[in-house]
Amino acid sequence: MFKLFNLLTLTQKKTFFLIVFFIILLSLVEILTFSLLQPIINFYSENSSENIFINKIDVIKTLKVYEILGLFFIFFIIRAALYIYISFKKNQFIYNINNFLSLTIFENYINQEYFFFIENKTSDMISVVINEVEKFSYRLIDNIINLFTEIFIVSAILIFLLINFFNETIILSLATITFFSTFYFFFKSKFKKLGNEKTLSDAKKINNLQNSFYAIQPIKLEGLEFLFSQKFFISTQKSAKSQFHLGFMSELPKPLIEFLVLIIVFLMLFFSYLYSYLSNKEILSTLAIFVVAMFRLLPSINRIIASLNAIKFYSSSGKIINEELNRKFLKLNNSSENKTSKSINFNSTIKLENVCFSYPSSGKKILKNTNLIINKNQMIAIVGGNGSGKSTLLNIICCLLRPEKGKILVDGTDIEGNERALQKKIGFVQQRTFIVDDTLLNNIVFNRQFKTENHLHLQEVIKDTNLQSFIANLPRGLETNLDEMGRNLSGGEMQKIGIARALYKKSEILLLDEATSALDENAEEEILNTIAKLKKKVTIIAVTHKKDFLKYCDKVYNIKDLQNKQN
Ligand SMILES: Nc1ncnc2c1ncn2[C@@H]1O[C@H](COP(=O)(O)OP(=O)(O)O)[C@@H](O)[C@H]1O
Ligand SMILES: [Mg+2]
Repeated sequence: MFKLFNLLTLTQKKTFFLIVFFIILLSLVEILTFSLLQPIINFYSENSSENIFINKIDVIKTLKVYEILGLFFIFFIIRAALYIYISFKKNQFIYNINNFLSLTIFENYINQEYFFFIENKTSDMISVVINEVEKFSYRLIDNIINLFTEIFIVSAILIFLLINFFNETIILSLATITFFSTFYFFFKSKFKKLGNEKTLSDAKKINNLQNSFYAIQPIKLEGLEFLFSQKFFISTQKSAKSQFHLGFMSELPKPLIEFLVLIIVFLMLFFSYLYSYLSNKEILSTLAIFVVAMFRLLPSINRIIASLNAIKFYSSSGKIINEELNRKFLKLNNSSENKTSKSINFNSTIKLENVCFSYPSSGKKILKNTNLIINKNQMIAIVGGNGSGKSTLLNIICCLLRPEKGKILVDGTDIEGNERALQKKIGFVQQRTFIVDDTLLNNIVFNRQFKTENHLHLQEVIKDTNLQSFIANLPRGLETNLDEMGRNLSGGEMQKIGIARALYKKSEILLLDEATSALDENAEEEILNTIAKLKKKVTIIAVTHKKDFLKYCDKVYNIKDLQNKQN
């Protein structure tokens, strides 16, 4: 719990202490309200003159009944106001934490290197940002604050009862504490296990959802709906089941403890009758206080137990959030204002020197001692069989993947630490263009500020990529919204947009990974013409199998021939 506390920012810590302060204030008001109860009950059971149970708070004895009633009323109003205020502050606090965590963790993820996303499942990340953050703030933090509140209130009432009815209170408390501690310690590890299970199955749930919708075409075609709902059902059921156990076991103590209290009160009544050291009226008065106290205490005690259980249950979220917040990321020089960002010059060559690479999941060496020199404004092609590592090589050239061994040199300088500067010069067109849920214009200028002076350049790019007729057929032209992941586009249209994006960027280096594979002959020819125009003006590294394309290239390398030259 202390570890969790350290995760909070200073303002959040301050708010937390403010809440605790008001909780303590509330407990004091509870005591005062209670201490007024006895004289009132005494008065109405005509016990007031004798005042056998000496109320230790002396001032109260000097007050008249209507004054006491008035005070009681006022305290009650203060108490209600405090409750409302604490509840407001608490929920505001939780909301702040939720906001802060969602954003921080998302930023921690999105700033990770590309490699991180190859190593980790997106469904796990989505689950942390959505499920675990929510459980952490709305469940864990909420329950921790509730625990504080109830502990203070219960202590306050107990102190009052101890002052006035020492023996009875001790007996009752011991019985209750023994019962609840046994219950709690018995189920403690069970709750923790259930919480862990829920975390796992929540992530699995998202994974199943993602898979199902992603593969909806084959699912429909093969009629696999049932299989996929079955898979989803299993993870949903596991998650719901843990929640069900938590819910049930948290409510279990309540009827049991009520029964326990009833027995104790009966026993007390019985013994006081047996030894008859009290008058009936006195017994009635004591009993009345106890019944009121019990009705006030029991829900609190019950909430304490429930909170303790929930804290154990959701502790796995706490652990995960803690890990995620401590996740370091390498912030590449994201903006030109960044002082560490040096702009690099590319005047003569890009050189790969003994580059080795393997993916963590398989461990198989994809690239072994790969060497390649690309001269400025050259146009080269890389060919090779499926899975031979062509795409991987392009990812390494644009610094999305880091070589395990070897270097990338631009004009003879190692670009390590300066990757962002190189990336700014690169336009990368992949086989699959990633379309964002935004207008066509924004998909081409790709979140760069579109200025009117760029208008001419944009028109040129549109002409070069032969997108005019496509745009003309769109209901709102360039301002038409493209659907998520480009569902409303054909493969060729997506590729044209990808090429347009790279051209609009005015990249010095163009990486093309089977960039024309989805285009029909006419479209391809037109785009090849455009690319040919760029020849001698930009450096082009293309992975392609198209013969027409290869004709344009200055050099064609087979990826196999680039490797192993050194040993
Ligand atoms: N994200 C990844 N995780 C693990 N292995 C991968 C990943 N991406 C590609 N691979 C493997 O690396 C090899 C090379 O892939 P790739 O560079 O895409 O080949 P190419 O583009 O030449 O067809 C393949 O055997 C492929 O299975
Ligand atoms: Mg490939």
